[in-house]
Amino acid sequence: MKALVTGGAGFLGSHLCDLLLEKGYEVLCVDNLITGDMHNIAHIKSDKFSYMRHDVTKPLYLDETIDFLFHLASPASPIDYLELPIQTLKVGALGTHNMLGLAKEHRARFLLASTSEVYGDPLVNPQSEEYWGNVNPIGPRGVYDEAKRYAEAITMAYHRYHGVNTRVVRIFNTYGPRMRLNDGRVVPNFIGQALRGEDITVYGDGSQTRSFCYVSDEIEGIYRLMMSDYSLPVNIGNPEECTILEFAKIILHITGSSSKIVFKPLPVDDPKQRRPDIKKAMKLLGWKPEFSLEKGLKETIKYFKGILES
Ligand SMILES: NC(=O)c1ccc[n+]([C@@H]2O[C@H](COP(=O)([O-])OP(=O)(O)OC[C@H]3O[C@@H](n4cnc5c(N)ncnc54)[C@H](O)[C@@H]3O)[C@@H](O)[C@H]2O)c1
Repeated sequence: MKALVTGGAGFLGSHLCDLLLEKGYEVLCVDNLITGDMHNIAHIKSDKFSYMRHDVTKPLYLDETIDFLFHLASPASPIDYLELPIQTLKVGALGTHNMLGLAKEHRARFLLASTSEVYGDPLVNPQSEEYWGNVNPIGPRGVYDEAKRYAEAITMAYHRYHGVNTRVVRIFNTYGPRMRLNDGRVVPNFIGQALRGEDITVYGDGSQTRSFCYVSDEIEGIYRLMMSDYSLPVNIGNPEECTILEFAKIILHITGSSSKIVFKPLPVDDPKQRRPDIKKAMKLLGWKPEFSLEKGLKETIKYFKGILES
């Protein structure tokens, strides 16, 4: 069986390539490295693995048949998509359209990596898949949120009108080794600041909540969803919720850092709460996260320490 992973040189994509290879798939990783890094796949020595540098907003034709197409390509951290607004919209729209066309041509099963950001700044907590969201389409974050909402819409259209076998995963905040220290997401931000002894910057008063899923749990959920027969969106994330201020204190505790916590203004349209309802994933996929926050953070801190010391 051959799987194509777009965005395979990124954080989540590279872990997905590892899992698929472990399970015996041939894997073709397609990435234009706009936010990814060849270091993330440099450890892969398998002859079942190949890499192609390609921008998926351009059409892609392949001679070899693919059976599964995991579409993860997209800038994903706020710093990235605020710097790359047009590329973010294009990869969500044109990139998803091209990859659906490829899946249709190959009769491959297609999975879209969507996001909890489709719920915007949610008015319900926790967020279940039935919630339609509260997104500001013209705010700075709109480029990412609306690209993913469009990507979901076109995926469902290919499913309904062309009969393509599709899956949609709504990924909630995921962290772990191979994130970039400077990608602006809260986990690498806080860990980097704590390890370097710098002030920990909390945006707003820190009362906004997040829930963090360890990468191996997330990837297992994504794989199980692809293997299921369910074509509507499924949340995959960790429902353990904490405030950003509590989270900063946990990082200080685990790293043993004496950094101070300082407060800065909240970015525009920053969601106040974020917590997945995972009943569907539990029922349909028999999936739930296995890593506690403490265990996942210890692994991640070890990784970032290694990076800072090298
Ligand atoms: N990590 C999370 O917490 C999270 C949460 C929700 C959704 N997601 C989604 O999961 C996917 C992967 O996110 P990530 O955290 O690994 O981010 P990442 O930036 O590490 O990986 C994204 C990859 O996509 C590649 N890419 C971007 N545009 C491309 C294009 N036009 N053509 C080819 N490759 C392209 C990048 O070079 C990069 O390697 C994204 O679709 C993201 O929206 C991630």
